[in-house]
Amino acid sequence: MEQKRSSFTGKIGFVLAAAGSAVGLGNIWRFPYLAAKYGGGIFLLVYIALALTFGFSLMVAEIAIGRKTKLSPIGAFRALNKKFSFIGILAAIVPVIILPYYSVIGGWVIKYIAGFVTGQGSAMASDTYFSSYIGSTAEPIVWFALFMGLTALVVILGVDKGVEKVSKIMMPLLIVLVIFIAIYVMIAVDGAWEGVIYYIKPDFSKFSIMTVVAAMGQLFYSMSLAMGIMITFGSYMKKDISIEKSTHQIEIFDSGIAFLSGLMIIPAVFAFGGEEALSASGPSLMFVTLPKIFATMPGGSFIGAVFFIMVFFAALTSSISLMETVVSTILDKFKINRKLCCVFVLLFSLVLGTFSSLGYSAWSGVTLLGMQLLDFFDFISNSILMPIVALATSIFVGFFLKPKTLIEEVELSSKFKAKKMFEVVIRYIAPVCILVILISSVLSAFGVIKI
Ligand code: PHE
Repeated sequence: MEQKRSSFTGKIGFVLAAAGSAVGLGNIWRFPYLAAKYGGGIFLLVYIALALTFGFSLMVAEIAIGRKTKLSPIGAFRALNKKFSFIGILAAIVPVIILPYYSVIGGWVIKYIAGFVTGQGSAMASDTYFSSYIGSTAEPIVWFALFMGLTALVVILGVDKGVEKVSKIMMPLLIVLVIFIAIYVMIAVDGAWEGVIYYIKPDFSKFSIMTVVAAMGQLFYSMSLAMGIMITFGSYMKKDISIEKSTHQIEIFDSGIAFLSGLMIIPAVFAFGGEEALSASGPSLMFVTLPKIFATMPGGSFIGAVFFIMVFFAALTSSISLMETVVSTILDKFKINRKLCCVFVLLFSLVLGTFSSLGYSAWSGVTLLGMQLLDFFDFISNSILMPIVALATSIFVGFFLKPKTLIEEVELSSKFKAKKMFEVVIRYIAPVCILVILISSVLSAFGVIKI
């Protein structure tokens, strides 16, 4: 018997769940770094312009594909055109790869919350704390399993009672915490204002084509595109909710949190070590530089704990969206029970994630293409599969399915004000932008260029 498809209860639920996916580690550990590196205000302007055109169109396309077919990526592309089912299959593979290693990082975040709460702030400020922690074999796996288990617990509860409910609690709290930390930093850190100016003032001398390339890549990752997530979430969206307005709101949320993360991080890092300290991004910014800065701040243990709790919310809502997509894809194909499916995905991810975690300790000698396991999974999914999926999607929508089909879906709920732009972007602009992302991310993974 066909089961009724789950759905979000309304617009707020949908927007917050999608924003929960979009707001993740990338907003916190990469956006501020890129903004500082590529000219401050000018980077912000380029980013916003791209979000309103390129990001907007790709997101509308994915949500509309999901809502039209009421299926997760594999079924959705097959339903639209059998010849293009391969796009759905590739898209569905991405969250399977990302979920385990993203959760390994989620485990590191829990470890740091525990560390700050139990007063180990000064130990965590040492240069080698992080590397020796991830270099230990057992403990990171335990925290990773906890993070993975929490993710699974929410997904087991279902779309409305799990994913939506958690997003409705965590996302507003996340905003409050980011604003709180940003204000705290400005008050507590001497010289923070210079950092604020450094962040916001456009520095045209740092503007180059790389500003645009970096903004494009970041936007693409930040909006959780090309991994089946927005298709899946779209499939849970009711037909009377405006896709266009919801997309704008998700973008405002995602870019807003990214901007605020910059306000929270850049002034503190800038006051601490000037431009040079700003050259760290990713794990080294979050787990090495920031704990050092917290240790020098008044109330540092408290603010460190608050910061990592905030990061935890951001990471958990993203991993939930990854797992929901994997589970939904399986449930669309095999009519099994959700709980059983979640247990299966949990076990599989625990195994794969354990490999990633061991890549820093017992298996640190194992490398693929010269990369550690976690970096390799990250490379395959982010730098290769995602741009290919996005490129294929925009060409498929632009020239085979035709933008009109999706425009009609959007217009079921409201007037589609930006439909002309949507058509042009999906057909001509998006493929070019994505090709640039693909080439630049491969070159940067192999160290030919540095973004
Ligand atoms: N959009 C998330 C971020 O900016 C990334 C992400 C989300 C990755 C969901 C995977 C899955 O960090």
